[in-house]
Amino acid sequence: MRAVDIIEKKRDGLELTTDEIRFFVEGFVRGEIPDYQAAAFLMAVYFQGMTPRETADLTLAMAYSGQVLDLHDIAPVVVDKHSTGGVGDKVSLVVVPLVAAAGLPVGKMSGRGLSFTGGTIDKLESIRGFRVELSVEEFREQLRRVGAVLCGQSADLAPADGKFYALRDVTGTVPSIPLIAASIMSKKIAAGADAIVLDVKVGNGAFMKTLDQARALARQMVDIGTALNRRVVAVISDMNQPLGEAVGNALEVREAIATLRGDGPSDFREHCLTVAAHMLRLGGRAQDLSEGRRMAEEALASGAAWEKFRALVAAQGGDVAQIEEPERLPRARLIREIPSPAEGYLAEVRAYEVGMAAVALGAGRTKKGEPIDHAVGILVHRKVGAFVRRGEPLFTVHANDEQRLAEAEGWLARAVRIQETTVLPLPHIYETIGNI
Ligand code: URA
Repeated sequence: MRAVDIIEKKRDGLELTTDEIRFFVEGFVRGEIPDYQAAAFLMAVYFQGMTPRETADLTLAMAYSGQVLDLHDIAPVVVDKHSTGGVGDKVSLVVVPLVAAAGLPVGKMSGRGLSFTGGTIDKLESIRGFRVELSVEEFREQLRRVGAVLCGQSADLAPADGKFYALRDVTGTVPSIPLIAASIMSKKIAAGADAIVLDVKVGNGAFMKTLDQARALARQMVDIGTALNRRVVAVISDMNQPLGEAVGNALEVREAIATLRGDGPSDFREHCLTVAAHMLRLGGRAQDLSEGRRMAEEALASGAAWEKFRALVAAQGGDVAQIEEPERLPRARLIREIPSPAEGYLAEVRAYEVGMAAVALGAGRTKKGEPIDHAVGILVHRKVGAFVRRGEPLFTVHANDEQRLAEAEGWLARAVRIQETTVLPLPHIYETIGNI
């Protein structure tokens, strides 16, 4: 077999065989297929798509490109979650300890933020001393002892995804449904998940811009999981406006802490309870969704979820005093309120522009590996549908640099649209598909 023949076949819109897909993935991971051929292959897939069978084969080839964990000696049913990425999406920080506190161990490997979306690992690094890089042995030990782990993706798990993603990121081939589906599901399978809750974001602040695209991605991932005997639920949720109020690393950790302590913005809390309820049901801890929801609410109300988060932070070397007194987390020097330019109803608080404002402040990166500023970010005070008066604060910007602050203000001005007539609030969840 030759890589060039496989590229040409896909370029011409033909269906690849299981062996061809495996040959390409294995050759690429071993370094026998160079980046330029892999990039051409990714672009061919981007334009021609893949059949469900090809996507499933790509997923499996990527999942088995490295180590595949078996965690059944620790948890009878291994449950995991994954978000397709958004702005203000700090759900894992709450849901992992929450589900663990309700009796289901969760070890989650997460990514870093890229472009306008944030990443759980960056957020956790706002906490002094927090170790995001754990060996597989450390991961297993903490999962057994604490029941909850939040760490970076191990380099041994699905290495094909890491290599492909780095190329996709610089070749304009990220927003491809088969490539995203295979990327996400290969990591979940390599991490040993039996039950997976997928949070598929849709809107201007997500990779999937339309409900049809989000539905197609969700369906593909559910089908791949089901074909591989995994139980999968996909929740299609809104990302036209940021989730919760905080966007930016330390600010998001603060909001997650507030939520774990029984406070926090209502849309974010609601989203966490929904995802947790699905995880508890899919993981066999709750009989149905309403029992899962009750268990999750109890774990929040009793303080058990908060205690679990403290235990997780302590186990990973984080400064517990900082999360007990979140004002000790990194803080920015310049804090400025952005007033509403008009009176009326908020028709848009665009997540994409708010995410780009956070990047402009230094909360995110435009290139892989860039350093970020954990202290900076934005608090979003009002949601779509709200009535606002001229001059009332819409955002509070936390910045460390005047020039960056001015750039962020430009993005935030473009994020907002105000109209005279009433606007309905945005739905929180559009659809739930899969094993429901
Ligand atoms: N998240 C992933 O893990 N992979 C993608 O390709 C896109 C979002």
